[in-house]
Amino acid sequence: MSERFETKTVHISHAPLAEEASKVTPIYQTSVFAFPGLEEVEQYYEGKRNYLYTRNGNPNQAELAAAVASLEEAEDGVSAASGMAAIMAGLLAVLSPGDHILAADQLYGGTYSLLAKELARFQIELDLIDLQRATSLAEFVRPTTKLLYLETITNPLLSVPDLPHWIREAKAHGLVTMIDNTFATPYLVRPIRYGADLVVHSATKYIGGHSDVTAGVLVGRADLIRRAREVIVNYGASLSPFEAWLAARGLKTLALRMERQCDNARKVAEFLRSHPAVAQTYYPTEEETAFFHCRKQGAMVSFRLRDESSVYAFYRALRWIKLAPSLAGVETSVSHPLTTSHRSLSEEQRQASGITLGLVRLSVGIEAYADIIGELAAALSPAGA
Ligand SMILES: Cc1ncc(COP(=O)(O)O)c(C=O)c1O
Repeated sequence: MSERFETKTVHISHAPLAEEASKVTPIYQTSVFAFPGLEEVEQYYEGKRNYLYTRNGNPNQAELAAAVASLEEAEDGVSAASGMAAIMAGLLAVLSPGDHILAADQLYGGTYSLLAKELARFQIELDLIDLQRATSLAEFVRPTTKLLYLETITNPLLSVPDLPHWIREAKAHGLVTMIDNTFATPYLVRPIRYGADLVVHSATKYIGGHSDVTAGVLVGRADLIRRAREVIVNYGASLSPFEAWLAARGLKTLALRMERQCDNARKVAEFLRSHPAVAQTYYPTEEETAFFHCRKQGAMVSFRLRDESSVYAFYRALRWIKLAPSLAGVETSVSHPLTTSHRSLSEEQRQASGITLGLVRLSVGIEAYADIIGELAAALSPAGA
């Protein structure tokens, strides 16, 4: 290497230290990979080398995708720039213009917008189903229906559809099933065991677990993941290596975090149910979650204040529980679905779905539960007065 300053500053990076393997996967913070010669470039195109250009693939993206695929017991997986990017890739891997989708009527607002606004532009039609009323898909299925889309624990009212039943129904009609398992995580339930074709995560949530990463992962049938990977590459929705590394690091404590957060949430739900200022508490029941692989009901609790207009005073009165429109961090946080995730719903949809002014969504963290309850009790007393 030249001793000239200009050349040395540019070529400063280390050669890989093969004999000093790092215990933790390094961050491959590179947009492109280098090759000794044209023969090796050719090997990439022949499938004998893995990486060429980070938008097409990167070891950190692959590590996260493989880890989630393994935990979900899926054949393959792919990571994406966000949960929405992963959802888009899964949908576009399956759907073409003229197709029809069936989805649960309780959906994350962003997913609803993608289905109802963006896919509609490609002549992909949508029907929403009230899974608490319906018992079969027969009356909703059309000759063009391709896919059933559900969330394991719905957002924000936390009901749990009978996944084994709906997946069986979808299969009977030849539909692909795509399940958003963000709220439950594979710690609680692995939808692939019930026959789901695709499972999607906003890894921004429990997989990352520390509110410091935006990422998505899609896992499932190898043929569909292969197609979804092409969609991600072609639409430019790839995950950055650093975000992938953070999400993979967060994943290592998923089981510990979920165990503690679910136990705390159960106690918080009990407290809210008996509080006079709270009109209604939403928390999955043991009956609803009977098909979960783990005897827990999740770490999200929603509740409606008796005096809905006191919601402003409630949020102001919180001292250390932060108002933050996301979930699943190690710190307990609250959000307000009506004015954030679900603000694109029409007034009619809001009333029909129960997402009203007084609805509070609580993401329960890993703190001592007595402190969480103490903080809520203090904030609810002026609200309930
Ligand atoms: C259930 C669910 N799915 C998908 C998403 C979208 O994920 P992201 O914000 O990472 O794009 C969210 C975001 O809140 C969510 O709550």
